[in-house]
Amino acid sequence: MIEVIIRLFMSHKALITGSSTGIGYQYAKYLALKGWKLELISQNEERSIKSKENLSYENANFHTYDLGKKESIQFIVENIDVPDLIVANAGIAINGAIGELSLEDKDYYYYLMCGGVIDLIEGFVPRMIEKGSGRIVIISSIGATTPMPKSSLYSSIKAGIYAYGKSISTELRNNNISVTVSLPGYVRTNAHERSGLSHLIKKVPQWMWINPEQVVLETEKASLKGKSEIIPGFVYKIVKPLLGFKIATNIWNKLTKKN
Ligand SMILES: NC(=O)c1ccc[n+]([C@@H]2O[C@H](COP(=O)([O-])OP(=O)(O)OC[C@H]3O[C@@H](n4cnc5c(N)ncnc54)[C@H](OP(=O)(O)O)[C@@H]3O)[C@@H](O)[C@H]2O)c1
Repeated sequence: MIEVIIRLFMSHKALITGSSTGIGYQYAKYLALKGWKLELISQNEERSIKSKENLSYENANFHTYDLGKKESIQFIVENIDVPDLIVANAGIAINGAIGELSLEDKDYYYYLMCGGVIDLIEGFVPRMIEKGSGRIVIISSIGATTPMPKSSLYSSIKAGIYAYGKSISTELRNNNISVTVSLPGYVRTNAHERSGLSHLIKKVPQWMWINPEQVVLETEKASLKGKSEIIPGFVYKIVKPLLGFKIATNIWNKLTKKN
């Protein structure tokens, strides 16, 4: 009984991957304003320190690990207490036509945004089940549901983690653990510039971009409602049913062509 009362007064704890910039940083900021205890994971030391300064929140621990490596996930699962909320967000944009990426790169990207996300989640789920509650949010992409020529690896990784999230959402329903997969379209973050896709910032019309704050608001709302999937942004909710059509792929090709 005393344990239950103590737990009621303790703040909730979230683990967020990819927390130094973009969507992950905004998620951290949003939960910090609500008084959550945060375990924040990113890779680059300098950006992690900068995010710590910007967030300026004492109830947060900052960690740097390369999440594309199995040992990082293993270390996190073994050394961080089970969170109430996992936000599996870390990732990068990948550009490359068939055959352009090395075997090593393909394995690495797959682990970073799919295999490692599964290992992270499965490392914590048994303890969430034991605790009797939990929430899991996976940041996938609208690219999981639509053809992405020359970004086929990215699209397939995001489709893989989307399918996984939807499946475990059903599997964990009776354990009081919700799983929500978020499928954003173009979001105004550093991701494209970082991956050498700066041309998209100029070529893709402004109305197709949404802010990371909006992704967080809509995703968190969907997660709290126990929804298994959310497409942030009004425009993407409208265009989603059209994305499988040839005309949509042709428009996408034109928009995303480098020259
Ligand atoms: N931006 C979009 O248009 C868009 C659309 C759909 C889906 N998404 C997805 O949203 C997620 C967040 O992307 P974002 O747009 O917010 O990009 P971002 O601003 O570039 O942030 C990416 C975050 O992931 C971290 N990260 C990348 N590689 C990592 C690694 N190997 N180990 C640990 N952390 C790593 C980065 O940490 P460092 O700073 O340390 O590198 C950073 O904190 C990604 O999964 C992305 O695929 C983005």
